[in-house]
Amino acid sequence: MQKKIQIHSLEETKQLAEKLALFVKPGYLITMLGDLGAGKTTFTKYLGQALGVKKTINSPTFTILKEYQGKFPIYHIDAYRLEGMEQDLGLEDIVEGDGLCIVEWPSFLEYCLPKERIEIEIRRSSEEGRDVYIRVIGDKYAAIEENML
Ligand SMILES: Nc1ncnc2c1ncn2[C@@H]1O[C@H](COP(=O)(O)OP(=O)(O)OP(=O)(O)O)[C@@H](O)[C@H]1O
Ligand SMILES: [Mg+2]
Repeated sequence: MQKKIQIHSLEETKQLAEKLALFVKPGYLITMLGDLGAGKTTFTKYLGQALGVKKTINSPTFTILKEYQGKFPIYHIDAYRLEGMEQDLGLEDIVEGDGLCIVEWPSFLEYCLPKERIEIEIRRSSEEGRDVYIRVIGDKYAAIEENML
């Protein structure tokens, strides 16, 4: 199942992230799809804020993984630099662990990610406009399906 949401401003991106924050739980996996600059990190930042993260979530340029503390741990992974590298990064313990895991560029990490996930795709439609597609894969995420789709 998929839902398309049309966003007209940065503020609306924040509102969507705040809505999602009401339903996410530790152990959830969110994958973020979209071109460079689509808004994946921006959405993650707002989601983190809504979950009580005080530090600003930014792009982990030199690190693959950054951990933040909010209501529960939030693991932000940017797999962009892992293209072509298939090695055991020991992420299994993190994904589906004690926190919420958010992965940008999941295609480069697909070999160690569970299929069940919340997939969010962001496409730029204008300067501040975005088309956001939310797809829910797996029974684990039934609450998201009921409340967001
Ligand atoms: N409605 C919007 N939602 C999200 N970002 C927006 C919106 N309008 C403008 N922006 C701007 O677009 C940029 C998105 O950059 P961001 O780093 O979030 O992209 P990204 O998808 O994470 O890119 P990358 O693949 O390089 O990590 C930011 O500068 C942000 O302020
Ligand atoms: Mg990013």
